[in-house]
Amino acid sequence: MTYDFKIAAADAPTMYRDLASALEGLVAGETDAVANMANAAALIWETLPDLNWAGFYRNVGGELVVGPFQGRPACIRIKFGDGVCGVAAETRQVQRVEDVNAFPGHIACDSASKSEIVVPLIRDGELLGVLDLDSPRTGRFTHEDEAGCVRLGEILARVL
Ligand code: SME
Repeated sequence: MTYDFKIAAADAPTMYRDLASALEGLVAGETDAVANMANAAALIWETLPDLNWAGFYRNVGGELVVGPFQGRPACIRIKFGDGVCGVAAETRQVQRVEDVNAFPGHIACDSASKSEIVVPLIRDGELLGVLDLDSPRTGRFTHEDEAGCVRLGEILARVL
């Protein structure tokens, strides 16, 4: 089987709709969380422009531990409340950060990162982890990106 996803839509809502349906297809019927996170990270990385990191931190006993991702090697463990990922995990709120250098406690795994979005992944009241996307462009993530990434998070929370 080959996966040849080429998503090139004119506008962000259409692109995220296509991305969401590609993701649903990719994870359909698979229950292995690592496999699903790995393919999701690759699909997002291939589809969204201007990213320098795309992947997951998992909630392992109340601490975030890096999961499958694309990009440079990253910080391995992040405490709840620390950095953008830790705040997303602690508050269970999406963190959309226009300028990471203005975010108190931001953890700079890659000095190229300028903006970031982190989506908590929650199933049945349990925080499974977070989806983290970084960009080398300030203000890369818009409200439309946030809506699209929340949708991706809903799909992922069912299969992790
Ligand atoms: N910048 C993140 C850390 C994770 S890396 O970006 C992959 C943060 O502040 O939580």
